[in-house]
Amino acid sequence: MSSHSSSTPTTDESTDRTTGASDDAIIQTEIDVDDNSRSTDDAETIVRAERLNVYYNDDRALDDVTIEIPENRVTAMIGPSGCGKSTFLRSINRMNDRIPAASVDGELYFREKNVYDEDVDPVALRRKIGQVFQSPNPFPKSIYDNVAYGLRVQGKADEVDLDAAVERALRGAALWDEVKDQLDESGLDLSGGQQQRLCIARAIAPDPEVILMDEPTSALDPVAASKIEDLIDELVEEYTVIIVTHNMQQAARISDRTAVFLTGGELVEFDETATIFENPADDRVEDYITGKFG
Ligand SMILES: Nc1ncnc2c1ncn2[C@@H]1O[C@H](COP(=O)(O)OP(=O)(O)OP(=O)(O)O)[C@@H](O)[C@H]1O
Ligand SMILES: [Mg+2]
Repeated sequence: MSSHSSSTPTTDESTDRTTGASDDAIIQTEIDVDDNSRSTDDAETIVRAERLNVYYNDDRALDDVTIEIPENRVTAMIGPSGCGKSTFLRSINRMNDRIPAASVDGELYFREKNVYDEDVDPVALRRKIGQVFQSPNPFPKSIYDNVAYGLRVQGKADEVDLDAAVERALRGAALWDEVKDQLDESGLDLSGGQQQRLCIARAIAPDPEVILMDEPTSALDPVAASKIEDLIDELVEEYTVIIVTHNMQQAARISDRTAVFLTGGELVEFDETATIFENPADDRVEDYITGKFG
């Protein structure tokens, strides 16, 4: 292990030891990688980009990105603002199709299928690859109807026991106990953290395989953010999670693999999270992680 290893937790004198409170985002200068991260050696690849380029008009936002994302793992995408993280996420379930200026070349496989093949239905694809956004965005409907939405749209509401499916998704999103007696109340009346878990319940109800999360905790307070982090740890038992975050502590805590993008849309390094944070191969990654730029 190299000399800049962060395996020893930082002991900053300003940490409040009497309460155990530590604002690690502010105080810590080194990053502690979660020891519980899962090995990705034996994981199947579920999403694979091969020389993927995305342009907005003539400007290139992703530059020849090649990457293999493991199934049932958490993959974090980090990098400075404007480096193409959201663009990459949107290219996986073809949300970029909705941006008229956007065009794509190269290949993006979901399992063995190139999602840009002509016979792929983007709506069906998005059922398999769900999405959670930065700001919680429940529909102005009841909690129940928010979760049932995807199943009804798919016409599955008759096939499945809707009540059971709603309960399962809310339990899966660690929200059931808090809302089980108020399923008819508006999703908009929940707290921000509850709303984000409701959005996760809505995303998992149609039983996707991959969940894309674009900075899902950046609008939340630390307690609510921590609940989402715990939830992500559970979700990977069943799903593949690909998460964009600006919070490097968070990437280190929750992800198994980390992809580092830098300005110009270049994927500079992609490796086990511990390697990225403790022993990156590229000097630019080390500079970014230690805050020298970005
Ligand atoms: N709808 C759009 N139309 C035109 N250009 C866009 C659009 N969305 C993104 N871009 C450009 O593409 C590049 C990558 O943007 P993107 O939003 O993917 O970056 P990001 O890494 O997610 O940034 P942030 O961390 O700020 O969210 C930027 O130069 C951005 O200005
Ligand atoms: Mg973004």
